[in-house]
This record gives sequence, C-alpha cells and structure tokens, in this order.
Amino acid sequence: MERINVNCDYMIYSDEEKKSALECLENSDSSIFVGNTVSNFEQKLSKYLNVPYAIALPNCTLSIYTALQVLGIENGDEVIVPNLTHASSIYPILMSGGKIKVFDFEPNSYYYDLENIKKLITPNTKFFLACYLYGMPLNIEEVKKICDENNITLIEDVAQAFGTKVNGKYAGTFGKIGCYSFNDTKMLRIGEGGAIVTSDKDIYEKVEHFRHVGEVFNSTKQSSVSSNTTYRDLLFNGLSNMGKGLNLRPSPITFSTGLKRIDHIDDYISERRKKLKIYFDQLSNLEGVHFIKNFDINKVEEYGPIASWILLDNKYYDRNRVILGAMNMGIPVGSFNYNTISKNDYFSNFITNKGDNLINSQYVRDNSIFLPLYETLSLDDVDKISKAFAYVINNYCKDIEIFDERGYDEEINYFDGFYLMRKK
Ligand SMILES: Cc1ncc(COP(=O)(O)O)c(C=O)c1O
Repeated sequence: MERINVNCDYMIYSDEEKKSALECLENSDSSIFVGNTVSNFEQKLSKYLNVPYAIALPNCTLSIYTALQVLGIENGDEVIVPNLTHASSIYPILMSGGKIKVFDFEPNSYYYDLENIKKLITPNTKFFLACYLYGMPLNIEEVKKICDENNITLIEDVAQAFGTKVNGKYAGTFGKIGCYSFNDTKMLRIGEGGAIVTSDKDIYEKVEHFRHVGEVFNSTKQSSVSSNTTYRDLLFNGLSNMGKGLNLRPSPITFSTGLKRIDHIDDYISERRKKLKIYFDQLSNLEGVHFIKNFDINKVEEYGPIASWILLDNKYYDRNRVILGAMNMGIPVGSFNYNTISKNDYFSNFITNKGDNLINSQYVRDNSIFLPLYETLSLDDVDKISKAFAYVINNYCKDIEIFDERGYDEEINYFDGFYLMRKK
C-alpha cells in the first residue's frame, strides 16, 4: 500500500470568527475591565453547559489554580489525582502547597478504580481533582458520591472533554468547580483560553475578585470587573480588596473568535463523532487492537472526542513499532507525551503514596495510540487513515520498509497533539 496524504491544516478560523476579531479591535474592546466580548462569551458558555456561572480565564492551568485558591487550599492539604493526567493538572496543586496522592484506573480503561481511591482517603484529604482524558467520560457520579461521603471537595479538570456528557449532564458540572481549556489542541479552540464554571454564587464572586487582583468597588463591595459603578463613585470611594487575587484577566481578542465558534460547537463535535465511528468500524475487529474499555459505541453521542483512543495489546504489538509503521504510512499519530505522575521525575517527589504500584494507568499510558479527528480532516481522509493503519497492523510481523528506522531521518511535524512525518 502507498503512503497516504491527508489534510494537515488543523486550525482554521472561519470568516465569521475573523470578522469578530476585527470588530473586537475596532471597538477597542481590550480595556482593563472585562469588556463585552468576554462577558458575551461567558453567557454563551454558561447557557451551553447549563450551569449558572461561567468565568473566563487565560487558560485551564490557571483555572485549576484559581479553583484551589478560592476553595481554600492550605499548605499540606492532600489532593487525590489520577496517576495519568497532564502536568497542568498537577502544577497548580504544588504551587498551592498541596500534597498529592495518586490512584489507578480500571484495567484497560480511563475509568477510575474506586476501591483504590477509597483507600487513599485520610482526614487530611481536602480535594479530589478528576481529570478527563481525550473526551472520554469518567465514572464521575460514583466519584462524586465518595467525595460527598468523605467531605472532600470535587474539582473537575475538563480541559480535554468539552462537550462530553455523563448520563446527559456535561462533564465539568458535577463538582464544585469545572475547569476548561480552549487552547489549540482542544475541542473549543481559540488559541489560548480557559474558564471556570460553577453553580455556587459565592464561589463565582470569589473567582471574579480573584481574577482581577482581588479588587472590589468600596461602595458596593462588588467585583470591579463585572459590576458597574460611576467614575464619581470610584473617585470618591475608591477600590478595596476582599481576599486573594492575581491578574488573571482574559484577553478579549482571543475570546472574540470563541464567541462565534461556540455557536457552532455542536456541529464540530458531531463531525468528530462521525470520524470516531469510522475508526471504530474499521479497526476494532483487528486482533489485539482495542478501543479503551470504557468506550461504548452506543454512547458515542455523549462524547466530545478530541482523538480516537486505541489501546494495543502488548502481547501482540510493540507500540513504538506500530507508531513507526504508521508514521511511514503518512498517518498523523499521537501517544501520551507525558508519563504517569508516579513516574514523573519532578512530581514523584510530592507524592505521599509513592510506593503504590499503579499498573493499569501505566499500561494505558505505554500502549495507547491516538488517531486524529481534527475538523479539517475529511471523512475520506479518515477512511484513508483507517485503511493505512489496518495495513500497518496486518503487516506488523513482516519485515517490510514501513518498519524501517530510516523514517526518523525525515522531517517530523507536530500539530494538534499529533506527529506527522513529511518527506524532506
Ligand atoms: C488534562 C489537562 N488539564 C489542563 C490542561 C491545561 O490547559 P491550558 O493549556 O489551557 O492551561 C491541559 C492542557 O493540555 C490538559 O490536557
């Protein structure tokens, strides 16, 4: 089979989005106070997710940090986190003085091992950070139950799962706070950006203060970002501070494209689901090639997938040989760039249950391969990728050119979390 060629322009802005960015500039909507662009985006986001409050922030990492701060994390508090997640889930905990306990997944799955979680709880456990991966759901209802029973505050890191639902309710709306990312590898991609959502008015107000250096109008004690006052009031009564704060004001120009993209996000999501189904139909019957176990084709309408998750059986395949074959066939392919938290050189220093052997999350990390779903990929491209991937698998045991290391001498591009080898 010949090497394939697929569309690689993974990020394009529509005319409507470009126009919105221009309008934002023309209206000088970039004042120190959050202007209409950001507040309109926030309203659309809260409506979409069916949650009372949404607050835009510069990115998801800072959203998680803000969440921990406004929810009152203190030095030495224990935070339970999955053993496999992005560094951005972990740094905010460390920067807040928290201690980490890591838990494992169910075998071949992103679902959490609930019994493992229960064993980690102590009187010092204050937070649980649930982190969704690649748009797959979690057993979040069970996790929430455990948190509620043990007085643990649940925060959701939904960076990778915008639009994913669990039993009809959006991921990110189960805990006290949900934290989203809008960077260029995510579902709702606007360059950089993040948001917090919550149903709790008190938390909402704290986040409002926090993102604008803790400032409130002295006369009303309302956030100087979201509420109005007169210059006369400001001049005579000035500002005050209500608690912790930083400058985490979002940039209106970035959110100006998101303001339009969010109107069409359901179309983007449903296109990705179609692509996911093609991969599933064409690849899931191959020997030793599995979709992650908690993937259920009958529930695909609940997923907001940002990649197709394939788990190779390591009894049949060496993951890196399959990657090499796929790259030589011209397939954009991805794997977990980051190791598990327990195997991370830096993070492992802060884990209090260091000795635990978390084999399931390690197996998933070591044997996963991702295939792309980005919006500019046509259904034909997806079909080509599926066929080329099947060719790699079907010829895995043969000594043919695609498994030749020569490929690594060629140019490798990285985009949207995927690697693509181009002929130089
Ligand atoms: C699970 C997870 N959490 C948090 C983040 C951080 O998002 P951001 O880049 O918006 O800070 C990422 C980004 O890749 C992520 O994958």
